[in-house]
Amino acid sequence: MKRGKPEGRCAAAGALAAAILLGFAVAASADEFTRQDLERWQGEYMAVVKKGEALFHGGLKSTNTVSCDQCHPDAADIHPETYPKFQRQLGRVAVLGEMINWCIMNPLQSKPLALDDPRMVALQAYITFERRGVALAPGKH
Ligand code: HEC
Repeated sequence: MKRGKPEGRCAAAGALAAAILLGFAVAASADEFTRQDLERWQGEYMAVVKKGEALFHGGLKSTNTVSCDQCHPDAADIHPETYPKFQRQLGRVAVLGEMINWCIMNPLQSKPLALDDPRMVALQAYITFERRGVALAPGKH
């Protein structure tokens, strides 16, 4: 069986390699960021953590005025590093946000938040920040 000329294949491979390298170069330049960028991102992140802290300690409106810190006085008692994991209350493997919603719907008797609701993002940012440095242990009970 006849295949394409070797030099033809080489040229095609060379062009492909050049295109891939060019792609990397473009991607790399698009990924460049400055110290100011890093400071701004960190500032925005910490602002969301603070917002989550305020929501956790009474800022999240609930129909029965119960707040997260009444049962979890210190959010560090919550274990985000074990998620996703099987949750008895839900009967399936769930992400952290679903368990936050379980508490919003049951103890707080309120409507669940969309998983991308800024308040949900803030609660998760705060809860996770409180456990920074703890090793991941997905599935652990
Ligand atoms: C009336 C008490 C009560 C209140 C108020 C409450 N929770 Fe919970 N929470 C629980 C109980 C009980 C569990 C289940 C513990 C378990 O199964 O490990 C739990 C579990 C959790 C978990 C999973 C913990 C883990 O380590 O797996 C998260 C996350 C959580 N709550 C977040 C919240 C948030 C956020 C709020 C406020 C919106 C809140 N909770 C309010 C009682 C409460």
